Amino acid sequence: MDFRTLAASFDAVASVAADALLVVIAGNALPKNLDKAVAAAAQDGIKLGDFDLKAGQVLTVLRAPGVKAPRLVLAASGAGTVKAARAALAGALAQIKGRGAAHAAVVFVGFDGLSAALAEHVVLAARDASYVYRHTKASAPVAKLTKLTLLTDKGDLDAGKAAKAGITLGGAIANGIEVARECANLPGNIATPTYLAEQVKQIGKTYGFKVEVLDRKAVEKLGMNSFISVAQGSEEPLRFIVARYDGAAKTEAPVVLVGKGITFDSGGISIKPGAGMDEMKFDMGGAASVIGTLRAVGEIKPKLNLVVLVPSCENMPSGKAVKPGDVVTAMSGLTIENLNTDAEGRLILCDALTYAERFKPAVVVDVATLTGACVIALGGVRSGMYATDDALATSLLSAGDAALDPCWRMPLDDEYEEGLKTNFADLANVAGREGGSITAAKFLQRFAKYRWAHLDIAGTAWKSGSAKGATGRPVGLLTHFLLEQAAKPAAKPVKAARAAKVAKA
Ligand code: BES
Ligand code: MN
Ligand code: ZN
Repeated sequence: MDFRTLAASFDAVASVAADALLVVIAGNALPKNLDKAVAAAAQDGIKLGDFDLKAGQVLTVLRAPGVKAPRLVLAASGAGTVKAARAALAGALAQIKGRGAAHAAVVFVGFDGLSAALAEHVVLAARDASYVYRHTKASAPVAKLTKLTLLTDKGDLDAGKAAKAGITLGGAIANGIEVARECANLPGNIATPTYLAEQVKQIGKTYGFKVEVLDRKAVEKLGMNSFISVAQGSEEPLRFIVARYDGAAKTEAPVVLVGKGITFDSGGISIKPGAGMDEMKFDMGGAASVIGTLRAVGEIKPKLNLVVLVPSCENMPSGKAVKPGDVVTAMSGLTIENLNTDAEGRLILCDALTYAERFKPAVVVDVATLTGACVIALGGVRSGMYATDDALATSLLSAGDAALDPCWRMPLDDEYEEGLKTNFADLANVAGREGGSITAAKFLQRFAKYRWAHLDIAGTAWKSGSAKGATGRPVGLLTHFLLEQAAKPAAKPVKAARAAKVAKA
């Protein structure tokens, strides 16, 4: 999709040539400098009871008098925030979706100028509206919209610059989101661990990253028995993907992102009910998001070092599958009793977290569609976020807010770890039903011997129902987080006090 900016007089936007003119209006009164023809259409709509200056209201007018574009779409945002603006623009874009317009011009009126953040979200909203999954459905119609012109106020020189910067960042994030959505939407028989590894290699080739793919033999040698135990019931070979982006001095400790890459989660011997099981092809949403973020980083080239780790396999029942009661020794040396083979995500992540130690990371963030309990707790609005230190939590929260890809901090009190105790191993892979997202995080924390955060994206990685499909979350959050890390002075690797305590015991 082609994005450009155009400096225009806001009192004459009706003269802009486009297939559709999208006017997003903030505030509860029409701005005084609003183009006369646009204002007349809005006033008409209000008079007829078809439009109102309340968030969520949209009105499409065909061949509005005095408006050059054959379609005028008015969208009220209520508040003048970036979030409200994006929501209103999404509403306006929905009006032209699947219809004839190929070129849309967008203008924000009643706002406090045009920021880079707003421009970024214009790109994200438009790219979101025009994404169509076609890999296994060539009959799905391609989006008509191919060009968007963002109008900036002629008198506001900063707005033009900000818009250009925002468009560039938004484009990179949108590309990352699209990679993540496409990967996650692909069925399990296509998006296998081997396929994911190939995708990462491709991105590595394009952007000059080092990519290493470990097979079963290699991870056996490393002692990743917990990861292997999940993969052992499947005919599909496992992969452990390692990608490195070096954007800063070698001496600078890297950020490590770890993504859960279960390409299909049947539950294993503790098999899931049949209804909705197809959605477990999305169980590699964490992997998809870190791969998408890698793609965005390739484009943005921030000054930081990044390592992306993806443990990937299927979780299947078979005569060779891991059984409830089986005990394995993880790479860290801890023994784990498998009390429910459907709690497999933590079993592949724990070995990846141990592997991450070798990079002496500044911080490790793992991303996983980990628990149904997180869906119950937070629904599809915010991802669950766990962090071992407050500064890290604050960074992730603000990155999520900036990206409109929000998360919510969850607790890590040691009392939550009680339920993971067992008579037969150092820890069990499940506790009771209560606080299920938290106890899963406590399990992972036992393996995280550095500054660490965990994102439970079970509720946010995909949508169910008629809009079934991957969202590409949290690529936006992660990209903003990495940009913030890059802007910071070099972070030193910090040993978490609690991890040191565990090691001593
Ligand atoms: N992949 C699932 C988590 C999940 C469930 C994500 C539903 C999105 C929607 C995970 O592997 C799983 O099965 N978790 C179990 C854990 C339980 C056995 C402790 C769960 O949440 O039911
Ligand atoms: Mn599972
Ligand atoms: Zn799973």
